[in-house]
Amino acid sequence: MTNYQLTRRDFIKLMGMGAGTLTLSACGLLPPASRFADPTTAPVILTPLASVPVSLTVDLTAGSATLPIFSGAETSIWRYQSSVREGSAESVQMLSNSYLGPIFRVKKSQRVQVRLKNELPDPTIIHWHGLLIPEEMDGHPRYAIAPGASFEYDFQVTNRAGMYWFHPHPHQLTGPQVYYGLAGLFIVSDEEEAALGLPAGEYDLPLVIQDRTFDSQNQMVYLTNGMMEQMVGFLGDTILVNGAPNAALDVKASAYRLRLLNGSNSRIYKLAWQDGTPLTVIATDGGLLEAPVTRDYITLAPGERVELWADFSGRTGSEMRLVSLPFSGFSSSGGMISGGSTSLFNGAPLDILSLNIGEKGVDVSPLPTRLSAIARHRVEEAVNQNNPRSFALTMQGMTHAINGRVFEMDAVAQDEIAQLGDLEVWEFVNLEGSGTGMMTMNIEMPHPMHIHGVQFQVLGREITQGYESAYQELSAGFIDDGWKDTVLVMPGEKVQVLVRFENYAGTFLYHCHNLEHEDAGMMRNYKIES
Ligand code: C2O
Ligand code: CU
Ligand code: CU
Repeated sequence: MTNYQLTRRDFIKLMGMGAGTLTLSACGLLPPASRFADPTTAPVILTPLASVPVSLTVDLTAGSATLPIFSGAETSIWRYQSSVREGSAESVQMLSNSYLGPIFRVKKSQRVQVRLKNELPDPTIIHWHGLLIPEEMDGHPRYAIAPGASFEYDFQVTNRAGMYWFHPHPHQLTGPQVYYGLAGLFIVSDEEEAALGLPAGEYDLPLVIQDRTFDSQNQMVYLTNGMMEQMVGFLGDTILVNGAPNAALDVKASAYRLRLLNGSNSRIYKLAWQDGTPLTVIATDGGLLEAPVTRDYITLAPGERVELWADFSGRTGSEMRLVSLPFSGFSSSGGMISGGSTSLFNGAPLDILSLNIGEKGVDVSPLPTRLSAIARHRVEEAVNQNNPRSFALTMQGMTHAINGRVFEMDAVAQDEIAQLGDLEVWEFVNLEGSGTGMMTMNIEMPHPMHIHGVQFQVLGREITQGYESAYQELSAGFIDDGWKDTVLVMPGEKVQVLVRFENYAGTFLYHCHNLEHEDAGMMRNYKIES
């Protein structure tokens, strides 16, 4: 068994790795014909890409820069510089003074071309998280390009309206590349959404939540605390929103659409308004819910998105604070912690963002009670209704594994092959803590599981006896009603999802979105066969 666990020294070696032989260029391809097992589902008609006019062509260059994040020394970061070659300049918004970005704003069915240029010292590739695009466009690590090389993306956006995102995905380097700054948003709008009249323009605020640790020279520090930190996942002591520490925003007394992404490497947030006002959720990973839901707090794991509708009217002069409430979790040195003040554990109470509410803004139109139509997958239609495809999340030596396996670049096991068009039940079973073997340590960790190439629906959750108390600290914050591409699987938990492989045949990834887990090998290929 290959062990992808890296020592600190290996990691440094890897970071200094020179040019490889990874240069590949994208080939134009026609989507394969779909096969539909279920006649009740309207087939997705895939238009040949060549017949769709290109409406946006963008250059994205991944490279290094410095930014004034704190007073004093500037911080060295990695970022994407963008320039629009063709199409409307408003479609690609740079975030001034942030390592994050850009923010794409596109319409469903637009054809987008992106030319990625790698000016990093390491291989890289972009993955479009949540987008339904062919394998060759999806940023599998096998498409990573060497320093100096370029990659041409060309795809049509077929997703419904929602906030998707993009980030690097090179083998064993996703964690550091995201950490040092590389990530942006991909916001899709469509007609169904436009008809709702949701807050727009300056009232539509994308907010990316991340944690970082800075040294006394204002430089980002990543994985310096040994093996245990890598097994648990990186936790920073400083919270940043859109790349800014101590984030505060001036808003108007009106309604806002707050689009939240947990862009952290491994930290989970238990988000709430500090004054106890319930949160109104209107969307998840794959876009709008059917109807708004109200929660006292929201659990947001790495990779997940949630959108809030927040009405600040009548609150002129006051402040609303978004916080992360405390919960029991792991410290980066591996100990279980439930309390204490250090932010170096997953579960520490944290300030996320303050919103200072100023003068009255536009009149608030009431939030529609019905937001969208979601075609519900029916478990009876799954080809494996009584025999879910099961993925055990367990320890393999010192590495988190999936069904006892870690990532291999080209390998697809027999039980990792699905048929195009099929609806399947997948289940993730997190029983690491019950593992026996060489490890005497009782590692119990949450794993946000992500599947590329699809959006899925959560079918159900089940918690093993004995695990209920930590579970119940977070479970009321899961938003399972809509489309998802990432789902948090708590220690002792089994989560079942319904997923239809309806878009493209090809080899895609599924993995834990704790980026240290992913880089250490908690990732596998699966293949959709036509
Ligand atoms: Cu956002 Cu494979 O990841
Ligand atoms: Cu993804
Ligand atoms: Cu994990």
